[in-house]
Amino acid sequence: MSLAYYKRYRMVFDLQQAALLQPVLPADYVWTPWERGQEDRHALVKFHSFRDEIDSEVFECLGDYRGCYQLMKDIALQPGFLPEATWLITVPNPPGSAGYEDCGTIQGVTVSETTGCIQNVGVAPRHRGLGMGRALVQRCLIGFQSAGMKRATLEVTATNVAAVEMYRSVGFQVTRTMFRQIDLECGVLT
Ligand SMILES: CC(C)(COP(=O)(O)OP(=O)(O)OC[C@H]1O[C@@H](n2cnc3c(N)ncnc32)[C@H](O)[C@@H]1OP(=O)(O)O)[C@@H](O)C(=O)NCCC(=O)NCCS
Repeated sequence: MSLAYYKRYRMVFDLQQAALLQPVLPADYVWTPWERGQEDRHALVKFHSFRDEIDSEVFECLGDYRGCYQLMKDIALQPGFLPEATWLITVPNPPGSAGYEDCGTIQGVTVSETTGCIQNVGVAPRHRGLGMGRALVQRCLIGFQSAGMKRATLEVTATNVAAVEMYRSVGFQVTRTMFRQIDLECGVLT
């Protein structure tokens, strides 16, 4: 058996003391709120964001469009799925193509009466470094706060420096370290 271990952090944000402002997007980018039936749009951005990243090793489904689509379906069916914490960032009328281009995604679910959990935040590679990852997280936090949550939580792979630093820059703190064990031949064990 061939095993791999991935160090993961749980990070937490205290929503009770936070004065959250609506994040402003760069010119040409707009917010797209959740609507039922948009799983495919979120899945496509998720796929583009994760397919070449460490988390597609940790979670096999993230490296595959169909896996991302099924994951989005599952998230949207969770009893705690929170539309106001679930957003796309979109470029309407991108140059050279009709229609729109989705470039960022985030989903939020409540896991208790007081805690919201960020699911997958992703920004497609050519749109990174513009503050949109942070904006997605801040918008999601506002959604949790308006739903009466006291804290927000997430898990992140420790070597995913861009994500860990992004969450820290928003105000998340590491509260726990854990390990995810994967059997490279058969899939996830724990
Ligand atoms: C993590 C991710 C969403 C960041 O998106 P982004 O739009 O590029 O991030 P932002 O521009 O909002 O950056 C916000 C802060 O994060 C940190 N950061 C972002 N990219 C970084 C990098 N490559 N290295 C170190 N810190 C980084 C910085 O503190 C940055 O603030 P600054 O620009 O003021 O210095 C993006 O890299 C991504 O989609 N990665 C793949 C999917 C993924 O791993 N998601 C997280 C799952 S837990």
